[in-house]
Amino acid sequence: MSDKPRRSLAVAITGASGALYAVRTLAALLERGYRVELVVSDFGRRLLTEELSVPADKLLPYLSRSYGSAVERGVLQLHSNKDLGAGIASGSHGCEGMAIVPCSMKTLAGVAHGLSRNLVERAADVMLKERRPLILVPRETPMSLPQLRNMVSCAEAGAMVLPAMPAFYQKPERLEDLADFMAGKILSALGLVHDLYPPWKG
Ligand SMILES: Cc1cc2nc3c(=O)[nH]c(=O)nc-3n(C[C@H](O)[C@H](O)[C@H](O)COP(=O)(O)O)c2cc1C
Repeated sequence: MSDKPRRSLAVAITGASGALYAVRTLAALLERGYRVELVVSDFGRRLLTEELSVPADKLLPYLSRSYGSAVERGVLQLHSNKDLGAGIASGSHGCEGMAIVPCSMKTLAGVAHGLSRNLVERAADVMLKERRPLILVPRETPMSLPQLRNMVSCAEAGAMVLPAMPAFYQKPERLEDLADFMAGKILSALGLVHDLYPPWKG
C-alpha cells in the first residue's frame, strides 16, 4: 500500500447557471484520484437541484452513475460554506489550487474585494495570498461595469478568469460535449493533462 499523501484541490459551486460544468469538473478530478474539498453555496445547492435534480450531499453517487465508477478513485469531501475553520480556510493546508465553477457575480465580487464572508470566499482568498492557482468560471450576460471591473481586480490579484464560454470548433453534439470542453479548460488551468476535448489542429 502506498503511503503517498493524496493530492488535493478545492472546488466551489456557487449560484450561477451551469451546474453541468461543475459536475464534469468534479468527475474529472476524482477520476484522477484527487481529494476534492467541495464547498457549495446556498444558491449553488439550488442550482444543483434546479438544473440537475441532485442534492449536494448526493453528488458522489450521482457522479458515479453519470460518469462511471472511476470517480471512486478520488475522495469527495463536502464542507459547509459557513465553516470558516475548515482546512481550506488556512494557507497551511496543502490544497494545491481551487476552481469556483460556476462562479456567481456576487461571489466574484467578494473575491475581488477580499471579503472572506464565507468558506468559498475565504478559500479563494487563501489561494491568492499563497500564490496558488485560483480559477474563476463566471457565467453572466450581459455584464455590468462593476462586474467587469471585479473581473479585472481578480485577474490583477492573480486569479484566472475563465468564463463559461464553450467553443464550437470541436463540433459538439450533446450538452456533455460543451461540459467536457469547459472541464478540460479548467483542468488545463490547474496544470493537469486531459483528453476532454480534441486539441485544435491548425
Ligand atoms: C436559477 C438562478 C439562476 C441564476 N443564475 C445566475 C447566473 O448565471 N450568474 C450569476 O452571476 N448569478 C445568477 N443567479 C443569482 C445568484 O444566484 C445570486 O446572486 C446569489 O446571491 C449568489 O450567491 P452565491 O454566490 O453565494 O452562490 C441565479 C440565481 C438563480 C436562482
